[in-house]
Amino acid sequence: MVNTPPNARVLSGMRPTGALHLGNYHGALKNWVELQYQYECFFFIADWHALTTGYEDTKDLEENTWQMVIDWLGAGLNPSASTMFIQSRVPEHAELHLLLSMITPLGWLERVPTFKDQQEQLKEKDLATYGFLGYPLLQSADILIYRPRYVPVGEDQVAHVEITREVARRFNHIYGRESDFAEKAEKALKRLGGKNAEAYREFRRAYQESGDESALEKAAALLDGNGRLTLADRERLQGYLEGTGRMILPEPDVLLTQTPKVPGLDGRKMSKSYGNTIGLREEPDQVAKKLKAMQTDPARVRRTDPGDPAKCPVFDLHRIYSGSDTQAWAAEGCRTAGIGCIECKKPLIDAVVVEIEGVRARAREYEENRDAVVSLVNEGCEKAREAARETMQDVRSAMGLEYR
Ligand code: TRP
Ligand code: SF4
Repeated sequence: MVNTPPNARVLSGMRPTGALHLGNYHGALKNWVELQYQYECFFFIADWHALTTGYEDTKDLEENTWQMVIDWLGAGLNPSASTMFIQSRVPEHAELHLLLSMITPLGWLERVPTFKDQQEQLKEKDLATYGFLGYPLLQSADILIYRPRYVPVGEDQVAHVEITREVARRFNHIYGRESDFAEKAEKALKRLGGKNAEAYREFRRAYQESGDESALEKAAALLDGNGRLTLADRERLQGYLEGTGRMILPEPDVLLTQTPKVPGLDGRKMSKSYGNTIGLREEPDQVAKKLKAMQTDPARVRRTDPGDPAKCPVFDLHRIYSGSDTQAWAAEGCRTAGIGCIECKKPLIDAVVVEIEGVRARAREYEENRDAVVSLVNEGCEKAREAARETMQDVRSAMGLEYR
């Protein structure tokens, strides 16, 4: 990663869709577990987002949410390293969503690719709703309210982060303007202190004169770590770097998750809607049984028929779970019909079972102690709320809604 600023904040969320599977794990969760030790991490359950498509039947929502938190914990999210919370328990998200809705052109939302795609894919549901159109804007509010530096997401969510950036830019443009902006920024710079102010000026020049992005990051990091600045002054100095106005809602960057291809049992992408999944906390015997029956290269009908690993979904799992030796052994044995599929699957089954057993072991104490789950989520909600409140004060003040 380039010039990771210290203490940068990361935010991401997941809809509570029910028990997570290996596809979700390798597609997102595993990455979160790594990020939590590099950044200040906020992860939340997007229960309101679940309502945008699942508004008719909400009976499982709450249980799905708790189970998802348990999956997270089982996968290795550590409550002392990550703040875990529930979207609807931080109602400030809704307030920011509403305020942003005032300045968001309809066309921006209608043009988000998932809007039409999803409506077509989920034909059985009536998604001509106000809430569904607003999905990406609610997501923008989720993100901007924590002013994170990075948002780790997969390819499918990039458009949502992109619109988030546009909305932030528009907000800052409309509400960050001050007639005496430059003057105030210079005053703030004095408060920053001699050495830091000098460094800031250097970075600002490097960025403005030669577009040096790393200088921009360094200057931002310098502001992040400075306790002498008020929030408003920090926003001014952030905005002053690029010469715009106050940066009340900084634009976050996507942290694109490198996701391996995780095939399901039938060879299609692993997905709950295809019913081809292996659960993250499934019984090991069940997991072994499923993998033994998993689709292989269809050309390998008999044991003596050679196969092609490139056409075999089992081999895609080897790529995730096996070292290069095992992969070479499987590929060679497949092409020469030196090994049978059952034999080929054996080390894979062992590796998947070990992984799942680790998840199950970590999850067990929480499965047996729901109070502990509720209480760590309560704490997470409180902490998230504090950060969200701080942003909202600033947002209201910039918009002239302070009433003091
Ligand atoms: N839309 C995301 C998904 O379906 C979930 C989500 C909601 C999210 N709000 C977010 C992800 C904010 C990242 C940041 O996966
Ligand atoms: Fe797939 Fe392995 Fe069978 Fe080849 S030997 S078809 S890679 S399961």
